Amino acid sequence: MEALKHLFGIADLSKEQIEHLVNLGDSFIDINRRPIKKAPTLRGKTIINLFFENSTRTRTSFELAGKRLSADVINISASTSATSKGESLLDTGQTLAAMQPHVLVIRHSLAGTCEFLAEHLEHTAIVNAGDGAHEHPTQILTDLLTLKQAWGSPEGKTMTIVGDISHSRVARSHLLAAKKLGYHMRVVAPKTLLPSEVERYGCEVYHNFDEALPGSDVVYMLRIQTERLTDACAFPSIREYHEAYGLNAKRLKAAGEDCIVMHPGPMNRGVEISSDVADSLKSHILNQVEHGVAVRMAVLATLCGGHPEEKPVSKKKSSDEVKQAQGSLL
Ligand code: NCD
Repeated sequence: MEALKHLFGIADLSKEQIEHLVNLGDSFIDINRRPIKKAPTLRGKTIINLFFENSTRTRTSFELAGKRLSADVINISASTSATSKGESLLDTGQTLAAMQPHVLVIRHSLAGTCEFLAEHLEHTAIVNAGDGAHEHPTQILTDLLTLKQAWGSPEGKTMTIVGDISHSRVARSHLLAAKKLGYHMRVVAPKTLLPSEVERYGCEVYHNFDEALPGSDVVYMLRIQTERLTDACAFPSIREYHEAYGLNAKRLKAAGEDCIVMHPGPMNRGVEISSDVADSLKSHILNQVEHGVAVRMAVLATLCGGHPEEKPVSKKKSSDEVKQAQGSLL
């Protein structure tokens, strides 16, 4: 299996790499349940979480994952970073990389931010914690660990994902993962919230939620990504959206006894999901949150394991070069 240098998206991972990360995450669940939640795996490693978009689950779980594996973890958010003073993303990235972290975890509203920074920061492993509507690989690994716990394997199962497919990096990453791991995807949304040619991912497309439910093994609900929504008329009103695409206990009955419910959070109760489902035994939403810490431990451990200890910063001059330069000025 090829060693992982960065984690940009599900698109770059092989089936073996995905399964390795999920299985390693599985083995870390136990540490998080112990009274003393600490292992020495990442002692001496430094992780910087750089978040330009809001986050509760992802940022906290990356922080806990690093700390529980004994790494030093620093968190920076857009409002407290120098980008709010006009510094470019690249300068911020190079500044942080000069402090020699092993891993930089980045969330940004622009698709491709991580690949862009990785091209310039040679010696730092980069993890995508969500880039615009592009990818969210650690959420999908989290979900796959949740499915592993529920069923053993997702292969042959049907996931029905419902809501703002157009703007959801979670939906996109699941569509990519499903092809690699052999689960079926049904996408359900009004036409205004569906990307054009979504069928090319090999999924079934529904506009009527009730028609998509029979035969579903998991119903995966999505929030409307208002922060990325440019079309003010994507749906008539929240009430009508809830009527057509909201999940409640009555509607869920059509999916059959064993169907489970997932949501990456944050939930908007009364919009895409009702409390009678969110708080029911069918809901695996808090399991997803728990597994998010374990999977991020697996990602950090894998990336740190594969990186050299000594990392010169590119463009930094050696003391001899500095003396030489000073000499030529005298
Ligand atoms: C998702 C995200 O940020 O893409 N949330 C998450 O990471 N848990 C989904 C969302 O914001 O709706």
